[in-house]
Amino acid sequence: MRDLEANVLSGAEETKLQYDYIEKAKQYVQEREKLAGRKLTCCVKTFGCQMNARDSEKLLGILTDIGYIETEDEHADFVIYNTCTVRENANNKVYGRLGYLSNYKKKNPHMMIALCGCMMQEPTVVEKIRKSYRFVNLIFGTHNIYKFAELLCRSMESDSMIVDIWKDTDKIVEDLPIKRKYPFKSGVNIMFGCNNFCSYCIVPYVRGRERSREPKDIIREIEGLVADGVCEVMLLGQNVNSYGKNLEHPVTFAQLLREVNQIEGLKRIRFMTSHPKDLSDDLILAMKECDKVCRHMHLPLQSGSSRILKIMNRHYDKEQYLTLVKKLRDAIPDIALTTDIIVGFPGETEEDFQETLDVVRQVQYDSAFTFIYSKRTGTPAAAMENQVNPLEVKEHFDLLLKEVQQISAQKAMELEGRVMEVLAEEQNEQDDSLITGRLSNNSVVHFPGTVDMIGKLFMVKLTECRGFYYLGEIVADV
Ligand code: SAH
Ligand code: SF4
Ligand code: F3S
Repeated sequence: MRDLEANVLSGAEETKLQYDYIEKAKQYVQEREKLAGRKLTCCVKTFGCQMNARDSEKLLGILTDIGYIETEDEHADFVIYNTCTVRENANNKVYGRLGYLSNYKKKNPHMMIALCGCMMQEPTVVEKIRKSYRFVNLIFGTHNIYKFAELLCRSMESDSMIVDIWKDTDKIVEDLPIKRKYPFKSGVNIMFGCNNFCSYCIVPYVRGRERSREPKDIIREIEGLVADGVCEVMLLGQNVNSYGKNLEHPVTFAQLLREVNQIEGLKRIRFMTSHPKDLSDDLILAMKECDKVCRHMHLPLQSGSSRILKIMNRHYDKEQYLTLVKKLRDAIPDIALTTDIIVGFPGETEEDFQETLDVVRQVQYDSAFTFIYSKRTGTPAAAMENQVNPLEVKEHFDLLLKEVQQISAQKAMELEGRVMEVLAEEQNEQDDSLITGRLSNNSVVHFPGTVDMIGKLFMVKLTECRGFYYLGEIVADV
């Protein structure tokens, strides 16, 4: 693994260099097309979070720029897995699917296979792939993803596996090609990395230190997106509430939200993820005042037990979390709250688990992602001796899931019959007479409509609640 970046180019020089490699790669693709007698296809698979998905759009931007045709089919000529390693099962999925890819490659001599993303930042993973998955052409990590065009060229010039992983980077490279999955909405990175080191979490080790983008670069990107038909953005960072602290001229996340809210033509703003320890009163006020900011806050709890929260290194306790929730609801009564919860953290007792259930009951989350604790080698929690018995964990997990689902169904029912603003997002996959849209609070609504409505806001009556989604009908334009 490289300690330092091999070059000292500025961000702008790096962008230019990568565009030169894009030109070179175009020629390589054309040569390969001639040999194959057809266009070549590419398939990008995402295994991780929204940030990982946004990275995949960057990979696809370059691949389609150099001439590959996008496909969902993994029998493609170029397949890249953008991996995640937050829990062990994310890793296992990748190994499982690599087995299939090896068979596809035996039948297609033109096929190239690449691996990137968080899992590749773990030296043991790369060793295993070098030894047991020798058919892989290219491996790179999270810090040098902006060098994808260059790495592609190197890989196309070589018969052996190219591996290039960096330990960290302080560089942010702007303005490389991106191909969005959705025409009307887009993720926008506002920061990279994480400095929080929650004791169970691998992300800081594989994504490096926290770096914020300059507000002007973020605004310029969003303005460009809006000009290209985007009406909703999701501002992305592992902890958006600490955005801007390390910039040369520090800016807060609340200030950034207010600036983004002024972008003409933009209709909705979402963000992810908020760490409770850094959620300021000013942010709550900004959310309340900014009309484009959606009425939804994802506020990971992780555990309701103050004792466990301390060992998790989360820097808040049960009471502080509940106080935050109260402040949010007082300021924005219709706000939807969602969360992440881990069950079975080392040393978690029945009493600790009851504390989590208590918070879940008190907060009444609109929805919650529940995870079984997964031991990540290299994190402090992995070295703790009091790992919990898996059977007990499963029992707690099932109990929690039942509780969470009951509460979210009840919460969803409360809106039945109401008329609410919906952004039309896409044609329904099963029934093309329906359009699927979202409420500001992130719930899904299906209603009769046509594709020309996509990207527009409507007032929709939620005629029927079906568990966690609604059927509706338009009552007015917005
Ligand atoms: N930055 C975000 C979370 C990113 S990871 C935050 O701090 O809230 C998404 C979720 O995965 C976390 O909220 C946590 O609930 C879960 N997670 C992270 N590490 C985990 C582990 N080792 N085992 C189980 N779940 C984990
Ligand atoms: Fe992981 Fe904590 Fe950082 Fe979230 S804030 S990515 S849970 S270390
Ligand atoms: Fe996974 Fe990396 Fe995201 S580990 S959750 S893809 S930051």
